Amino acid sequence: MMTHRELRKSYIDFFKKRDHVQIEPSSLVLYNDPTTLFTSAGMQPLISNLLGAKHPMGTRLIDIQPCFRSVDIDEVGDGRHTTFFEMMGNWSLGDYFKKEQIEWYWTFFTEVLSLPKEKLYVTIFEGNKEIPKDIESETLWKKLGVAPSHIREYDVKKNWWSRSGPPESMPEGEVGGPSSELFFEFDTVLHTPRFGSVCHPNCECGHYVEIANSVFVEYKKSNNSLQLLPQKNVDFGGGFDRIMAAIQNNPDLFTTDLFSQIITSLEELANKKYESQKSEFQVIADHIKASVMICKAGITPSNKEQGYVLRRLIRRSLVKMNILGCSMKPDIKPLVKSILTIYDGLYDLSEQDNGTISKTIQDEIERFDETLRRGLKYFNKLNNDQLSEQAFNLYQTYGFPLEVTQELTAQRGVTLDTNTFHQMNQTHKKLSKKASIGFFKGGLADQSEQVVIYHTATHLIHQALRDVLGAGVRQEGSNITGERLRFDFQSSFKPTDEEIQEVQNIVNEKISEKLPVYNLALPKSEAEKLGALSFFREKYADTVSIYCIGGSAEQPDVAYSKEFCGGPHVINTDAIGKIKIDNVKKIGSSTFRLYAS
Ligand code: SER
Repeated sequence: MMTHRELRKSYIDFFKKRDHVQIEPSSLVLYNDPTTLFTSAGMQPLISNLLGAKHPMGTRLIDIQPCFRSVDIDEVGDGRHTTFFEMMGNWSLGDYFKKEQIEWYWTFFTEVLSLPKEKLYVTIFEGNKEIPKDIESETLWKKLGVAPSHIREYDVKKNWWSRSGPPESMPEGEVGGPSSELFFEFDTVLHTPRFGSVCHPNCECGHYVEIANSVFVEYKKSNNSLQLLPQKNVDFGGGFDRIMAAIQNNPDLFTTDLFSQIITSLEELANKKYESQKSEFQVIADHIKASVMICKAGITPSNKEQGYVLRRLIRRSLVKMNILGCSMKPDIKPLVKSILTIYDGLYDLSEQDNGTISKTIQDEIERFDETLRRGLKYFNKLNNDQLSEQAFNLYQTYGFPLEVTQELTAQRGVTLDTNTFHQMNQTHKKLSKKASIGFFKGGLADQSEQVVIYHTATHLIHQALRDVLGAGVRQEGSNITGERLRFDFQSSFKPTDEEIQEVQNIVNEKISEKLPVYNLALPKSEAEKLGALSFFREKYADTVSIYCIGGSAEQPDVAYSKEFCGGPHVINTDAIGKIKIDNVKKIGSSTFRLYAS
């Protein structure tokens, strides 16, 4: 049976033979991207290149990208969903298109991985009023010998991909396109009517599982409609864990070598067999693995952003461990060790990390122990007729999963009305989705003219702050909307009103000098030699993209501002107009937040 290390190598080798360059995956945790907390798709770091900016490594790229999707958190436990996963990705940036992509990956799956053709199903986009049916892909699949009964058509909900979903949900500037997906049929999973009367590749019953997706990124949302991009791109995403499951013809991801050691370690901790309580084992294995990956990226549990996600993962696993009968404060080290052994040498992970990561998780376990006790105290004060209504509060505030409250309630001889919980949960989800949409729009993912203008303005502000306050100024993050820009920075002292006025004057002076803004792809060492400012928490590849303001591509050393950045930017500062710094406030011991418009 192929191991996960062999699968990695065969995929990379296959595409390297087809002139692809392997790029460094980006960090799982995104510190300087206002649009999202985690990398959730391989294409995320390549947006500006899909839009047309030159990538320093060329037009054919490949990598395996660690990803985290918190939206799937409630699905974990069905054997085929995880929050942390790896995505095999290959990209054509205006280079090859449908013909090569479809032929190559069919060869890869059927010849290199030897997946039986009769178990594979492909899907294509059926077309709508705005976008034609993907006849080209259909014809290509037929030519490759895929039986017509194994080629299915779906609408935008299933066969259109953009980070924000179907065309109508795409914000201004977002890229996307029709997709062609590949499904593997698991005979051992039988269809159940609760998922619909007829089973089909996109049915949720688990009989068919999506293992790969080729997106033909040729559209951009512009002025409320879809416009063709100047270049045709391919964005391929292969679910690494699911492909491992397909290779072994067993839908349970947790039996692959990406998980088996974790399960064994958990069996020892719980003194129970995996088969006896699969769902709990799966949640713990997934959540602790994701926690290890997030801790490795430098995050610690907290009440906001990535730290909150980490806290939820650890607490949820702890309650599940409790259900499995583990002690209230289990020793997490052997579990973390099993994860580090599986990924040893990948993503900078090694067994040396066990001390730090286990301590972070263990500390949170100690803290949760207290919350758990407080939650129980709260629960014990509730009357029987309050329990159904309070189940959601216990879930939200004390991290009690529904089944824990159900068990506690049953001990009182009362049956919990779970509908109330589900209704409140649904309302909460809808609300948080609406919030997250705002968060998304608030960032650079909206590549509207004004957002791009503000993005360039942040570079000028960054440099001007350093001019006035000294080179100790360091960027902490930014968040840009069409209405204003927000720039967080570190400084050992609070700037005075006069100093802020001076920063504003310098920025406006640079704008009026009509300085060119240009992009250079350079070896990292040369970019550093030039003095380009990098974001200290980010890990960069050997060749990097920098944006300069002033000077010229031939003489970038005299540029006013030089920063490691993927763009996009205006081409001349002239486009910015006037910038006004509206407010600067202290948000940490030496961190300040500046708003400008
Ligand atoms: N971006 C697509 C996905 O995430 C293909 O890589 O499925």
